[in-house]
Amino acid sequence: MGLHAQRRAVVGAGAGRVGVVQERIRIGIVGCGRIADLQCLGYLAHPRAEIAAVCDVDESLAQRRAAAWGAPRVYADLEQMLADSEIDAVDILTPHHLHETHATAALAAGKHVSLQKPPTRTLAEFDRLTRVSEQTGLTLRIFENFAFYPPHRKAKDLVDAGAVGEPLSVRIKTAAGRLGDGWEIAPQTQAWRHDTETCGGGPTTFDHGYHCFNMGRFFMPEEVERVHAFVHWTEFAPNVRIDGPALITWKYAGSVPRYGSWEVIASLAMRVRSDYYASDDRIEIHGSEGILWVNRCAGKLLDEPAVVLYRDGETRAFHDLACDWAESFRLGGIDFVDALLEGRTPDQTAADARRTLAFALAAARSAEEGREVALSELPGRAESVIGAG
Ligand SMILES: NC(=O)c1ccc[n+]([C@@H]2O[C@H](COP(=O)([O-])OP(=O)(O)OC[C@H]3O[C@@H](n4cnc5c(N)ncnc54)[C@H](O)[C@@H]3O)[C@@H](O)[C@H]2O)c1
Repeated sequence: MGLHAQRRAVVGAGAGRVGVVQERIRIGIVGCGRIADLQCLGYLAHPRAEIAAVCDVDESLAQRRAAAWGAPRVYADLEQMLADSEIDAVDILTPHHLHETHATAALAAGKHVSLQKPPTRTLAEFDRLTRVSEQTGLTLRIFENFAFYPPHRKAKDLVDAGAVGEPLSVRIKTAAGRLGDGWEIAPQTQAWRHDTETCGGGPTTFDHGYHCFNMGRFFMPEEVERVHAFVHWTEFAPNVRIDGPALITWKYAGSVPRYGSWEVIASLAMRVRSDYYASDDRIEIHGSEGILWVNRCAGKLLDEPAVVLYRDGETRAFHDLACDWAESFRLGGIDFVDALLEGRTPDQTAADARRTLAFALAAARSAEEGREVALSELPGRAESVIGAG
């Protein structure tokens, strides 16, 4: 039986809908740039998924990806890929200024969507998009891969099990290292990130920041209430600036005093060992009875166990974890396919993503205005479409 015959087992119009039996999930990937190297992993690994089509305005790049992934169809125009009835879901890996348009078009064409972080540049864009997903009843998954990284998952399980007692503080440190180490990053991949109009904010504190703000929320039982940010822009090449160093602090809601911080150190002369970006993130979760450290993420900066727990005078190291950053993408892709097959909500939901986006935007506003910003100052969902978002 060929692939097309197998697909006849699919019943109904949408994989996430109640009562639908879906045998395989056929993915169309739009945006075949740098991160597509990792985003493909879950779909290639899942026995009930296939990359059915790829799309990129750079058609030769799309052709190369299709050949590498065994994708049968190639498009240079998203509208044409969306007209392909042999696609159930679209994975969107395009620059941020295109996210709302691309995700809305995919939902309107009846496709489920996985959308890379940060989902949109503003809350207004985000709220328009989530309205469309609600109207269609299709799945809109925001993909934040740090939440799938096994050392982060392990730390979260330990925190939830009470390993550090009451979690009181989260501290994140990002070491941005020397350019030219790690992955090769094409100039066109950098160009849209260094333009705040197309990126939506700084390449460090907004683009990468979405992950760190999400981690600021991930381990704590309360939401973030207020934030303060110092962000310095460093010129590291003629007319190219990055938003670091930066120091961002926040307070969580609730009666227990809890604080968090994220520091970006622009150590641009330092070699950061990495198979991916030449930067690395470390996280410390300090509780009433113990401390947890996650010692690595995208890089391999510290040659230490990925997760270490201190409690009751003893230090325990967790060595047996899949630490390659690519694993977070593989697991995230698998979760999206499983969620569609099972008709459940995948991680990260729109409501959850909105909170992380609001946190990131509040930090950006704080840095711009030089004052502490309460997240309640940002527009709520109903008002966002008429405000600046
Ligand atoms: N989770 C992570 O850690 C992580 C890491 C890197 C990038 N990302 C996200 O992935 C997305 C892509 O980032 P990247 O680094 O791969 O960027 P990139 O510039 O390397 O790739 C983007 C691709 O989109 C294509 N494209 C642009 N406009 C298009 C259009 N209208 N139709 C079809 N294709 C179009 C470009 O030709 C390019 O190949 C962004 O949302 C980014 O934030 C996430």
